[in-house]
Amino acid sequence: MSTARPSQVIVITGASDGIGAELARQWARQFGAKAALVLAARNEALLHQVASQCRESGAFTQVVATDVSDPVQCRQLISLAGAEWGRIDMLVNNAGISAQALFEDVQPDDLGWYEQLMRINFWGSVWTTHAALPWLKQSRGRLVAVSSLAGLIGVPGRTAYSASKFAMTGFFEALRAELRTPGVSVTTAFPGVVATRIRHHGLNAAGQPAGSSGLREDDAMSVETCARLIAQGALRRDREVVMTAKGRLGRWLKLLAPARVEAMALAALKDDVKPR
Ligand SMILES: NC(=O)c1ccc[n+]([C@@H]2O[C@H](COP(=O)([O-])OP(=O)(O)OC[C@H]3O[C@@H](n4cnc5c(N)ncnc54)[C@H](OP(=O)(O)O)[C@@H]3O)[C@@H](O)[C@H]2O)c1
Repeated sequence: MSTARPSQVIVITGASDGIGAELARQWARQFGAKAALVLAARNEALLHQVASQCRESGAFTQVVATDVSDPVQCRQLISLAGAEWGRIDMLVNNAGISAQALFEDVQPDDLGWYEQLMRINFWGSVWTTHAALPWLKQSRGRLVAVSSLAGLIGVPGRTAYSASKFAMTGFFEALRAELRTPGVSVTTAFPGVVATRIRHHGLNAAGQPAGSSGLREDDAMSVETCARLIAQGALRRDREVVMTAKGRLGRWLKLLAPARVEAMALAALKDDVKPR
């Protein structure tokens, strides 16, 4: 019996669906038996499906049901991964939810979901990263943060989401400098619109699943392309992966002509969700 141990232990949050699941499948294909994919999210049945797809490519897998809005579960995820494999080479902070609501449409009693969204999109990354740091320093590993173009440019109808993604962007930018000497790279990814179900189960003004997307999705990027760009950027230890030409342009145009960027952001909304 082979006693070979995987040399790439990769923990991915939000691995039950969308970008996280696709990243796991792509790395499983790329590394085969050299990889152990530690898959975390709330839906355990879906995680097992993704794990079985990864094992078909020869990779090792571990499923850890995790709600990243709970700091205890974030710490447990990392300690179970470390105990199982004896190392952690990469942590991908990808779990996230979306929301679509004009701020003035949110009733005072419903503002609690702003806090919950922040716990999932931002605090979940902070808690998981903090627990993983000793392992990543030991392996001179990699941290990945899946932010969003909404973490570079404020998007109307997405005040909660943009706030959570700006928080991620700032946190990981500061942490990147702190981790220079220990040699842990931090790659922040800024996807634009990607063809997943995130906006359909995102929240509406009342904090309930919206059931539909408020964005024009005609030229959405495929989840395969998005995951490939993140995977490449992480392995190259790139600082940032800004995914679309529009995103790269918007970022610089914002410094020169912010009103023009606001107009572009408004144009991305469907008519029925535009500010009145
Ligand atoms: N799709 C886009 O257009 C787009 C654009 C920019 C940025 N992003 C970012 O990319 C990341 C992945 O999004 P996606 O499009 O792949 O969305 P998705 O298909 O809806 O997948 C989201 C993943 O996050 C997990 N998740 C949600 N809440 C969680 C919680 N409390 N604890 C643990 N896991 C949780 C979900 O699993 P469970 O439900 O099983 O927990 C699922 O695996 C997100 O951070 C998102 O903000 C997406």
